[in-house]
Amino acid sequence: MTDRVRVAVVYYSATGGTHKLARAAVAAAEGEGAEVRLRKVRELAPEEAIGSNAGWASHVEETRDVQEATLDDLVWADVLLFGAPTRYGLPAAQLKQFFDQTGPLWAEGKLVNKVASSFSTAATAHGGQESTVLAINNTFYHWGAVIVGPGYVDPVQFQAGNPYGASFTSNNGQTPPDDTALASMAVQSRRAVQIGAALKRGLASD
Ligand SMILES: Cc1cc2nc3c(=O)[nH]c(=O)nc-3n(C[C@H](O)[C@H](O)[C@H](O)COP(=O)(O)O)c2cc1C
Repeated sequence: MTDRVRVAVVYYSATGGTHKLARAAVAAAEGEGAEVRLRKVRELAPEEAIGSNAGWASHVEETRDVQEATLDDLVWADVLLFGAPTRYGLPAAQLKQFFDQTGPLWAEGKLVNKVASSFSTAATAHGGQESTVLAINNTFYHWGAVIVGPGYVDPVQFQAGNPYGASFTSNNGQTPPDDTALASMAVQSRRAVQIGAALKRGLASD
């Protein structure tokens, strides 16, 4: 067994905000010594919808080289970080559809004791970041995963203000994550790796 903690950062993003958080999560996990896979979930929206929004179309083009997530990525990883935009206070359906394919892994207990954590973005300040993160986390309970949020474990969390998972207000894609949101994402990612490492060591010595 490799000693390095393996992290899968799996996200959906239409206009790029969640993708920026995902990249910050990757950088922080790598800085913590983890082996990291960045994966997008499959797009489900029709071409007409994507083409009708310039920001969406250009983001699809910019991230064409990011590999699509597979169930194997979840089995491979010790730590799972999931991100999705807020859609009516819930995660975008693209991520939910990916979750809905994990039934066989769930049935075989393949996701038990993975560290899991989530993040989001929304257009407006109280538009549902927290409810989205908590909705994503509901799935983790069913998997038997160990949920690790950022809490207030770092001073930046008193600025970022979301102890459930990193998030930011995008003003409908007009505003990218600021330094506080990126730092919050990094705190969450590093913490997930640290707990994942401790758990991996502990489980290996059982
Ligand atoms: C169908 C739909 C529903 C949305 N629902 C919400 C919402 O409930 N609250 C909110 O603040 N923003 C909402 N938004 C805006 C997105 O959450 C926001 O633009 C987000 O930053 C997009 O993230 P992305 O850049 O990663 O795609 C919604 C957008 C769409 C298309």
